[in-house]
Amino acid sequence: MRKIVINSGKPLSGEVAVSGAKNSVVALIPAIILADDIVTLDGVPAISDVDSLVDIMEVMGAKVKRQGETLEIDPRGVENKPMPYGKINSLRASYYFYGSLLGRFGEAVVGLPGGCDLGPRPIDLHLKAFEAMGAKITYEGDNMRLSTGGTPVQGTHIFFDTVTVGATINTMLAAAKAEGRTVIENAAREPEIIDVATLLNNMGAHIRGAGTDIITIEGVKSLHGTRHQVIPDRIEAGSYIAMAAAVGEGIKITNVLYEHLESFIAKLDEMGVRMTIEEDAIFVEKQEQLKAVNIKTAPYPGFATDLQQPLTPLLLTAHGRASIVDTIYEKRVNHVPEMARMGANISTVGGRIVYEGPNQLTGAPVKATDLRAGAALVTAGLMAEGQTEITNIEFILRGYSNIIEKLTALGADIRIVED
Ligand code: EPU
Repeated sequence: MRKIVINSGKPLSGEVAVSGAKNSVVALIPAIILADDIVTLDGVPAISDVDSLVDIMEVMGAKVKRQGETLEIDPRGVENKPMPYGKINSLRASYYFYGSLLGRFGEAVVGLPGGCDLGPRPIDLHLKAFEAMGAKITYEGDNMRLSTGGTPVQGTHIFFDTVTVGATINTMLAAAKAEGRTVIENAAREPEIIDVATLLNNMGAHIRGAGTDIITIEGVKSLHGTRHQVIPDRIEAGSYIAMAAAVGEGIKITNVLYEHLESFIAKLDEMGVRMTIEEDAIFVEKQEQLKAVNIKTAPYPGFATDLQQPLTPLLLTAHGRASIVDTIYEKRVNHVPEMARMGANISTVGGRIVYEGPNQLTGAPVKATDLRAGAALVTAGLMAEGQTEITNIEFILRGYSNIIEKLTALGADIRIVED
């Protein structure tokens, strides 16, 4: 078993560069199945979710070349065959194969998606959209079959009851080559949706309105190859900004699009965090007294659910009592008992996280229960007195590119050890 071991007390300073966005690239890779030629992605993060997607693409017959942050995928040899179950069910984003295979072949046979345990994560809205586009859904053991029965996917009008990133992107994937026009209302507006629409449009698709709550897709007959730069990961950026404010002595976070982080930065301003916004970077100073603030997550451009956990250690350094409410995933509270184990005054009361500070954390053995809880534990470990050992680190490596190398370069005493 691998663990991350952190010894605190080292001054952290310097520069850290943000990698390409995980939640974009996990959709961009399956999107390439729709192309009739080679697609190259630049700025691909070194995370295990990408490794898994690349493996799946290769099993399906794609030719993949990966060099540093560049990924070149030739999807011409892709065949519509059942996918390796272990990989599919460890990945949340495997649901994007439904949309892209349906779009290319009119049929998809895929295992049910996995991912972090954040409480119930239904895919009913994805399936409703596919059904509205003419697909029939049947279950075969652990697999689900979506099929239009030989006719092309049909453009249609879809209204999502809940704002959903996954179903918005999946509908765009299925609709890009559909017959006719698809309109998505109450679409999610996350930057990752714009990134996927940009790739598809550069492949020849006709998608308008991505980034607003109405997206229109005019189906086209074929999509071609292209080259695309993945947007910076706003969640990784926010995680490093919070970490820099908690333990840094002057850290510059580069490759940041401030516009993607406005609600997060506004909360840090409210706490009293001192930072300088530059053109594509944010410099975070060493902080003095911070103020506790209430957090309520919401779909973009609201405060991102994915940043609630990475921000928690910084909140614990602040003066006062306040709460965190996650309206997207109310069970996204698994970091709370671990923080409490490290000595924090934090608890969950009726779905609401309540904390009071300031707190001095103490190093302890803790468990990363999911990706963002893991990021929170890394920051907590850097803040704590003594040594922190984090287990279940596979969750962290799924989504934080070169995290050990990046933190070591800032001066942290952090390493992975085999138990
Ligand atoms: N929902 C439904 N039915 C559906 C789909 C979603 O009820 O068919 C609900 C969900 O249960 C949730 C809300 O709608 O309460 C929003 O879910 P969404 O579909 O937006 O989530 P997702 O697509 O499964 C992506 C990210 C998550 C991120 C959410 C934020 C990927 C691969 N995952 O998940 O990222 O928290 O959007 O909405 O893009 C992470 O990076 O740590 C992570 C979990």
